[in-house]
Amino acid sequence: MQRMILLNPGPVNVTERVKMAWNRPEICHRESEFTELLNKIRKKLKVISDVDDQYSVVVLTGSGTASLEAAITSTIRKKALLIKNGVYGDRFEEIISTYNIEKSVLEYPWTEQPDISEVEKKLIDEPDIDTIVMVHIETTTGLVNPIDRVGELSRRYQKVFLVDSVTGIGSEYVNIMKNNIGVCIGTSNKSIQSFPGVSFVVIKKDLLNIMKENKRTVYLNLYMNYEFQERGQCPFTPALQTLYALDVALDELIEEKVEGRIERYKGLANYLRQGVKRLGLRLLLSPEYQSNSVTSIFLPHGITYEYLHDRFKENGFIIYNGLGNLNKNTFRVCNMGDITKKDIQRFLELLETFIKGKKV
Ligand SMILES: Cc1ncc(COP(=O)(O)O)c(C=O)c1O
Repeated sequence: MQRMILLNPGPVNVTERVKMAWNRPEICHRESEFTELLNKIRKKLKVISDVDDQYSVVVLTGSGTASLEAAITSTIRKKALLIKNGVYGDRFEEIISTYNIEKSVLEYPWTEQPDISEVEKKLIDEPDIDTIVMVHIETTTGLVNPIDRVGELSRRYQKVFLVDSVTGIGSEYVNIMKNNIGVCIGTSNKSIQSFPGVSFVVIKKDLLNIMKENKRTVYLNLYMNYEFQERGQCPFTPALQTLYALDVALDELIEEKVEGRIERYKGLANYLRQGVKRLGLRLLLSPEYQSNSVTSIFLPHGITYEYLHDRFKENGFIIYNGLGNLNKNTFRVCNMGDITKKDIQRFLELLETFIKGKKV
């Protein structure tokens, strides 16, 4: 099968070195070799999350949503304030509702950031809220949410701040400690540049007591998983080969440095956006809301997403659709993973060809 350049928002292209890690010898997860691997990964995740010893990391077998569900069910005591402006905010809401957890919701248009004064008003009016829940980078559009300003409110009103940074960690500055984030969710198969199947939660340790009491699920209780992992174990069978790959992908991220990767992605996103605009296409979001990894673009006049998708796929590129009402007139292009400026240049050349109705 032809290697595709993945311009979808994960899973991403990974390096040969990460792929090769998959081929390490089979091991048993009850042996010391596994403990060594797990300890290394947890330590490296702390390094790339830039947190000190007030924090710990729990690694879960399961995609990003598993960690979202683990975080929600383990953290909220009584009531959450959910701030949402996209599909992943909706997913948070579905999880909160499924577990019958009380919530107050502030909803905003997909192309706008939340109104901070409304967030503050909610916190004043509803003092029984214990946790603020928000998505950092809404992959629905690529919008950056103001975790710094909401984090400041969480500190002032002494609330737990729970953040989905599945699309943020590795490509944006999350500043977990500075932004008072108590629980932060990330995943292996986006900007960390590894395979899908493993996700993780960065936890401020003083929340572990709450997590011990919140026994809403068996598999996903973060305290139980933490306790096992502190002993170098996993309660259930982990995705061993995916963990091997994650270990190497984390080495690569630490070698590149998180700042280096952020700058690389930012450079690729700028190059992509300038090229798209040169071709006469418009971007969905105002520049100040745009993330370093996801770009929503209005479709060229008279061209459907399906047409564009199929032409790109014939030429080795995967692009992604817009969601909800945006699926009729926008598409998404992401620049996460082991891709280069040359790949984006080729993407832009192809896009020009398709717009002009020429044959490749
Ligand atoms: C912001 C965000 N949160 C959560 C998820 C869910 O991750 P997964 O599909 O790995 O369960 C995604 C997936 O794209 C995402 O973009």
